[in-house]
Amino acid sequence: MDKEKKEESSAIHPAVAPLSYLLGTWKGEGEGGYPTINSFRYGEELHFSHPASGKPVIAYSHKTWKLDSDQPMHSESGYWRPKPDGSLEVVIAQSTGLAEVLKGTYSAEDNVIKLHSQVVANASKITITMKPHSLGLRSDLHGMEASIGLTHALLLMVREISRVYEMVNGDLHYVVQMATNLTTLQPHLKAVLKKLP
Ligand code: HEM
Repeated sequence: MDKEKKEESSAIHPAVAPLSYLLGTWKGEGEGGYPTINSFRYGEELHFSHPASGKPVIAYSHKTWKLDSDQPMHSESGYWRPKPDGSLEVVIAQSTGLAEVLKGTYSAEDNVIKLHSQVVANASKITITMKPHSLGLRSDLHGMEASIGLTHALLLMVREISRVYEMVNGDLHYVVQMATNLTTLQPHLKAVLKKLP
């Protein structure tokens, strides 16, 4: 490949240019929670790159780990497809067996990206055990659930996901909310990440 062609292919596509501030590696910490689980903290590294294909696409990947042991937690990867009109399509595959198609908008002025799921596919259903109080069982009956053989196993599916990413003083902040078949849209994750040099 001659030099001119090589430079052309490594140039940032005009559709990607408004989001070029994302390109690179980001690292930081986040906290998670949900009405049905205990809250937790995690470490995270997130990577955005612009494949030298000349296509208007940003490749995305993230991995997370437990802060005390470095043990891997959730990971995901996908593609972000910005359009010149300020809209954005994103596809993401999660290590937990979820696939997301999200649509939304980006604003070049205030560097805010808002995404909402159009499709969430659950490869398998998660089985969770509900505590008697979350089932609305009277507290004076909580001790009885084992003796009367009451089972609390419920199937859980993610129905909706929203993601908001925002640059604040050079840091990347994000908030992820989700709705399941049991719970309305509520916060699951928030994190602050710094760009690695
Ligand atoms: C869009 C991305 C994500 C989705 C849709 C998602 C979905 C879920 C769902 C459905 C649950 C079960 C909630 C319940 O039991 O009611 C859950 C729990 C959990 N998630 Fe996520 N998650 C996501 C990202 C993450 C990330 C990035 C992490 C870690 C860094 C994480 C860590 C956890 C933990 C620790 C639990 C609790 C597990 C337990 O106590 O059994 N999740 N998540």
